[in-house]
Amino acid sequence: MERSLVLVKPDGVQRGLIGKIITRFEDRGLRLIAAKFLLVSPELASAHYAVHAGKSFYDALIQFITASPVMAMVWEGPDAIAAIRQTVGKTRGTEADPGTIRHDYALQARYNLVHASDSPENAAAEIALWFKPEELVAWQRDTEKWTYE
Ligand code: CMP
Repeated sequence: MERSLVLVKPDGVQRGLIGKIITRFEDRGLRLIAAKFLLVSPELASAHYAVHAGKSFYDALIQFITASPVMAMVWEGPDAIAAIRQTVGKTRGTEADPGTIRHDYALQARYNLVHASDSPENAAAEIALWFKPEELVAWQRDTEKWTYE
C-alpha cells in the first residue's frame, strides 16, 4: 500500500475543478485519507518546492502556488504513486496522454492543475510537511475487496 500527496493547485481551484479531479481518483479506486483547503504560506511553498530552487521557473512557481488556495490531499492504495501520476499525466498538457487530467484540462507547464508525489520517499516527506499524523484517517472503502487483490 502506498500514499501520495496530491494538491489541486490554485488554477484547479479557481477553475472549479476540485470535484472533477477528486472524482478521477475516487473512480480509480483510491482511498482519500486526508484533505484540507488552505492558502499556502511562502515558507510552506519554498519547503515544498525546494528541489526546484534556482530553476528559471522557481520564482513564478512560488508566486503561483501562494496566489490562491489549494486543496491538499493524501490518497492511498496499491501502487498509488504510479496510479496517480498516470491519472495526472505529464507536466505539460500538450504532452500528457488523452484521458489524463492534464491533457483534458491543461495546456502548459505551470498551470498544470495538480501536484502528485513522484516516489515513496518524497511522498513521506511531503505528507509530513503538509499534514500532522493525526490528520491522516485510517479507514477502508467497502468496495476495496472488489478493487484490490
Ligand atoms: P509539478 O511537476 O507538480 O512540480 C513542479 C512544477 O513547476 C510543475 O508541476 C509546474 O507547475 C511548474 N513548472 C515545471 N516546469 C515549468 C516551466 N518550464 N515553466 C513554468 N512552470 C513550470
